[in-house]
Amino acid sequence: MTQDHLEMSSDSLVARLWQELTRAPHDRHHEWRTPVLATQGLETSGPQARTVVLRHADALLWTLRVYTDARSPKCLELVAQPLAQLTFWSKRLSWQLRVSALATLELEGEQVNAAWERMRQSHAAADYLSALPPGHVQSCTQDTEEFTANPMRGHHLAILNFHVTSMDWLALGKNGHRRARLTPTGMLDWLVP
Ligand SMILES: Cc1cc2nc3c(=O)[nH]c(=O)nc-3n(C[C@H](O)[C@H](O)[C@H](O)COP(=O)(O)O)c2cc1C
Repeated sequence: MTQDHLEMSSDSLVARLWQELTRAPHDRHHEWRTPVLATQGLETSGPQARTVVLRHADALLWTLRVYTDARSPKCLELVAQPLAQLTFWSKRLSWQLRVSALATLELEGEQVNAAWERMRQSHAAADYLSALPPGHVQSCTQDTEEFTANPMRGHHLAILNFHVTSMDWLALGKNGHRRARLTPTGMLDWLVP
């Protein structure tokens, strides 16, 4: 294993990671655009993990943003237990990033309105207009009209804000792997991969 990482400063690694994170929401082909969000399930349902789209990343505040349907189970789970993890994998970089964060749910206000204004023109708007909540069991007799977008009903778009508390970076390499834990306070620990 090379010792290159010993020369890499905390600042330069942090900058590289945020460079990728801030690019991802604007680049449809960026592998970090679709991380897996893990939450603690309610009652006895165990851990819950699902793919989401990264909508925004703020390198200064160490925050990430995801849109969701306010009625989706993940919202209830995050209200009950705000500790969450977002896992990113990039084949291009050979990097995995596990981001631990505290989630807050934004149901209304300027940011939600602005997000909806951008979303409403896109085909993805239908995701936030269904009559029944995500995960609801569909009955054969139910009129499919019920699931069609209807702007008169209003939307259910909500923002999940993630305040990053630590990041676990793993870089796979032919000459050895590298792993580090980073925090917003500037701490960096090199870990055994
Ligand atoms: C590529 C992809 C992107 C997705 N993006 C989102 C997203 O940004 N927000 C979201 O709430 N669900 C998204 N989903 C759907 C979720 O993975 C999940 O099925 C849904 O949100 C219900 O999750 P829950 O029942 O755990 O709340 C996406 C699924 C895929 C396959």
